[in-house]
Amino acid sequence: MKIRVLTGAGISAESGIPTFRGKDGLWNKYDPTELATPEAFQKDPKLVWEWYDWRRQLIAKAEPNEGHKVLAQMEENFPDFWLVTQNVDGLHQRAGSKKVIELHGNIWKVRCIGCGKEDYDYRAPLPEIPPECDSCGGLLRPGVVWFGESLPVDALQRAYELSEDADVFIVVGTSAQVYPAAELPFVAKRRGAKLIEVNPEETPVTPYADVSIRESASTGLRKVLELL
Ligand code: APR
Repeated sequence: MKIRVLTGAGISAESGIPTFRGKDGLWNKYDPTELATPEAFQKDPKLVWEWYDWRRQLIAKAEPNEGHKVLAQMEENFPDFWLVTQNVDGLHQRAGSKKVIELHGNIWKVRCIGCGKEDYDYRAPLPEIPPECDSCGGLLRPGVVWFGESLPVDALQRAYELSEDADVFIVVGTSAQVYPAAELPFVAKRRGAKLIEVNPEETPVTPYADVSIRESASTGLRKVLELL
């Protein structure tokens, strides 16, 4: 059975990582155009890095929760399993998931805007802000996808292919507002997949879901594991 999962910020909520939308969402407090666009970084790299350094420190202190662990267990139980995530926190990998496609990059990656060198840098807090490239001295940027930027082509292509041949497509903890990620559940559904949603709130996906579990990720995914 080909199982595909799409996760969003909601699966890390129980690890204490704020989501972007909804009542305590980050975009209620911060303006994404000031912090999560190439123009914002160009205008004030120090401000953008202070925000990412704050998020990195938060994530460094967080632990994967039961929801992440159930998905790692699902990968063990089902040979043809893939996890596509919009999240950049790396908590899926820390929970043991290996077959992970990161559509929006990874907050632990840094990329030099001078020479293009990309590395993982797990220091939290960063010793200097904004950080500089150790090869060319250029300015480093977070290795994440900002609003207005295109997604990594290979990751997106792979995510579409996997969604097209899914038997079961599980959507967890995403408000399904941001494209192209939000299209994947519909790609799977159109191709005949069983669509399961786990989210305490309704989303644009809900009317199309064969099973809609109005629970948190950890509770809901345990139920899904029993269903499979
Ligand atoms: N368990 C499951 N879902 C939850 C939980 C929980 N404990 N708590 C909240 N949610 C749900 C919310 O109901 C909401 O539908 O998680 C979803 C979070 O939605 P968003 O904050 O919009 O996060 P996401 O859908 O991942 O955002 C997509 O937008 O800001 C950009 O690049 C960023 O990847 C992000 C993209």
